[in-house]
Amino acid sequence: MIGQTMINKTLVIFGSTGDLTYRKLIPALYNLFERGELAHTKVCCVGRRDYTTDDYLSHLKSWISENARFKLSTSKLEAFYKHIIYLKMPFTEVSSYHLLDHFYKENPCLNNVIYYAVAPHFFEVITEGVQTLKHCQVPKIIIEKPFGASLKEAYALNEKLVHAFKEENVYRIDHYLGKEMVRNILTIRESNPIIQAVYDGHFIDRVDIKAFETIGVESRASYYENAGALKDMVQNHLLQILTIVALPDTGGTISEQQMHVLKHLKIKGSIEDTMLLGQYDGYRQEKGVAQDSIVETYARLRLFVDLPMWKDVPFYIETGKKTKNREMTVTITFKQPNKALKPNVLTIHIQPVEGVELDFNIKTPGFDSVTSTSMTFCQNCDLTFRLNTPEAYERMLLSCFENDNTWFAKWDQIETSWKFIENLYHAYHEKQLPVLGYAEKTNGPKQ
Ligand code: BG6
Repeated sequence: MIGQTMINKTLVIFGSTGDLTYRKLIPALYNLFERGELAHTKVCCVGRRDYTTDDYLSHLKSWISENARFKLSTSKLEAFYKHIIYLKMPFTEVSSYHLLDHFYKENPCLNNVIYYAVAPHFFEVITEGVQTLKHCQVPKIIIEKPFGASLKEAYALNEKLVHAFKEENVYRIDHYLGKEMVRNILTIRESNPIIQAVYDGHFIDRVDIKAFETIGVESRASYYENAGALKDMVQNHLLQILTIVALPDTGGTISEQQMHVLKHLKIKGSIEDTMLLGQYDGYRQEKGVAQDSIVETYARLRLFVDLPMWKDVPFYIETGKKTKNREMTVTITFKQPNKALKPNVLTIHIQPVEGVELDFNIKTPGFDSVTSTSMTFCQNCDLTFRLNTPEAYERMLLSCFENDNTWFAKWDQIETSWKFIENLYHAYHEKQLPVLGYAEKTNGPKQ
């Protein structure tokens, strides 16, 4: 057992029996444990299910072995389990928070992180409950998107959180900002003069940001029915990536520069020219989905960044569930003055392949013509690189413990992207544009 006097970090997870905790947080914690970053740390998994700690732990092994980057061993797993306790608590009742207070009394420390791994409609009651705690020293709160179901709700929630915990203690996580290859976008651009010199609209023809997933809504219909692809993927993950790709290099923090991009996002032409929504066939038959649901599981957008460096460069964003392959890429296509030749294309593979690919032209061997070829670098094909690359949630949890919020989304970014996407959403539905069906295992509607 870890002695109470030695505890220097605590993590409390609300929603400990949910998909996010099992699929992402527990494996991330296991990775941190392997790296020696969980020493003197207690993790309290709060849930409403009638489990003992042993019951809870018995569920974790398969999630860890499937999702953690380090290989499991029984002895390590046992040592890891010693960091975790399960706390059965009806957390929607503020009067039950004395149970959590007891945990903090037993594990006093100054570095407390509380993770809201629950649907947004629980944020308010948890905040009220946490405010009643007597033994929890100024906690840092990690919250997941989306903030409520509308911009109005988002404002109200944000105000409550900031009022209760202060802005500097609210960590709005966007795990895509923790992905190795998303961070690499800036490095590739800034550390290679041959890329940096041509990194603007004079040379770049278009940017494509794609995130395809083979999974559907799984067990998350109640959440997804209020979110859809626009709020689930576009408004946060994909716009965050767009801002990183388009970072104007104007000085200031990364967040300030991202904000500069967001403020200058615009569309050209009509909503039909800008957005297409789709829904996979069979979505309405998923458990918990309304039979007449028009919630989109696919979205394609064409956006522009109204800054001189990005003049007239379209940024295409595309995301879908139940598509043919799991694939997330950023593709930068350069202008080709000679139309007979293929353009140079720089592709950053974010997942599942992590790597970089550059298409360029050479002489066709043995002939005088030109042919296109590509140089590829696969980062996660290399075992050492793979083992050295932290998973997104692992990196983000550690940053929060270290009080580093550089790569967490700021409220002004969330507010601006909410407004932008909400306007597009309303414009689309006011015009009664269709949410087009698409077959599973295809990359979206044929149109
Ligand atoms: C989550 C979305 O934020 O990101 C999910 O809510 C989506 O719908 C997931 O499946 C994708 O994350 P990753 O890291 O698997 O690409």
